[in-house]
Amino acid sequence: MNLTGNWSYPTSIKFGNERILEIADACKQAGIKKPLLVTDRGLATLPITVETLGLMDSHNLGHAMFSDVDPNPNEKNLDAGVAAFKAGGHDGVIAFGGGSGLDLGKMVAFMAGQSRPVWDYEDVDDWWTRADSDAIAPIVAVPTTAGTGSEVGRASVITNSETHVKKIIFHPKVLPSVVICDPELTVGMPKVITVGTGMDAFAHCLEAFSSPHYHPMSQGIALEGLRLVKEYLPRAVEDPTDLEARAHMMSAAMMGATAFQKGLGAIHALSHPIGAVYNTHHGMTNAVVMPPCLELNRPMIEDKIAEAAAYLGLSGGFNGFLDYVLRLRSDLGVPDKLRELGVGDNRISELTEMALADPSCGGNPVALNSENVEALFRASI
Ligand SMILES: NC(=O)c1ccc[n+]([C@@H]2O[C@H](COP(=O)([O-])OP(=O)(O)OC[C@H]3O[C@@H](n4cnc5c(N)ncnc54)[C@H](O)[C@@H]3O)[C@@H](O)[C@H]2O)c1
Ligand SMILES: [Fe+2]
Repeated sequence: MNLTGNWSYPTSIKFGNERILEIADACKQAGIKKPLLVTDRGLATLPITVETLGLMDSHNLGHAMFSDVDPNPNEKNLDAGVAAFKAGGHDGVIAFGGGSGLDLGKMVAFMAGQSRPVWDYEDVDDWWTRADSDAIAPIVAVPTTAGTGSEVGRASVITNSETHVKKIIFHPKVLPSVVICDPELTVGMPKVITVGTGMDAFAHCLEAFSSPHYHPMSQGIALEGLRLVKEYLPRAVEDPTDLEARAHMMSAAMMGATAFQKGLGAIHALSHPIGAVYNTHHGMTNAVVMPPCLELNRPMIEDKIAEAAAYLGLSGGFNGFLDYVLRLRSDLGVPDKLRELGVGDNRISELTEMALADPSCGGNPVALNSENVEALFRASI
């Protein structure tokens, strides 16, 4: 089945196999004549990237790339990217990659025209209004993983390399104006990345669905996103070339990110400091901490999760759902404890403080405090 479509929600999306061939159209639509392709170091030499640069070149868009980008990208990567953007006289960004390449690419387009440090635009109150919106360069986003949904997000996650804190930088115009979702680009992901990113999408849908805020649109999207992950993540892991599964996982990733404006929760509040301090993979970290977070929230979400379980065809209500999550993790090879990702128990009080300062806390069904967060870290490590 060749799943294809042209969507305009939440932004303009060209969805389907081989849609990467439309990269020049996408740039034209976004008003970009001299793009800088921003990606991470790991992707820089892979055939999908080289071929995309070739496509750009053959359409007189040049083949400029900036790839000095770490997983969990930081402000040093950003400064270097902005310098490359200015030095090359670029007028827009092709953000290409997993969340790392996408987030940094979006930030290069954003920061190229700003005068304050990036931290001044953190997602706090209305800090985004400090930015000069007219100076934000247009963005075309091309995801190569299926998890973060950053391609349809208005924020980037940037790690402060000095304080080791992950900050969410927000501006409505950071939402890419055109997205190319080509499932074939995700076929070469290593298994561990397919699993980790897929579990990130699942975590976004689960936390958005569980958050107590009123947002029925997000609620519906999150529930269907959970179903897509349940049906198709095991298939994508089993057979990496299963393009139908890859397509549905790309949709699930975008659905998670669309839904989580309703709120995230403890999973992300824990995962952000762990990722920032230990440089673990974000989605895999979410998958490890998920069961104790579900348990903590049980009193507030038991009925809601029972409804989700029924929709997903799981019997046993909340318990059935929790059992399913544990089974899914072990089937996909997710480690049971954070220790297996290299996280020790010697910095728990520091991690707890960082988790409580994370904006994701706001969407957790049970109010988070130092006791329950520390207990979550102990249970997860
Ligand atoms: N902006 C948001 O809303 C949002 C949401 C969740 C997570 N994030 C952030 O996104 C980042 C994680 O992104 P991610 O999980 O997509 O991982 P990633 O972008 O860090 O990529 C992981 C690894 O996979 C490689 N890779 C990516 N695509 C590949 C492909 N098609 N073939 C082969 N290798 C490939 C990369 O080179 C990298 O080494 C974190 O920094 C996280 O904080 C952002
Ligand atoms: Fe996430």
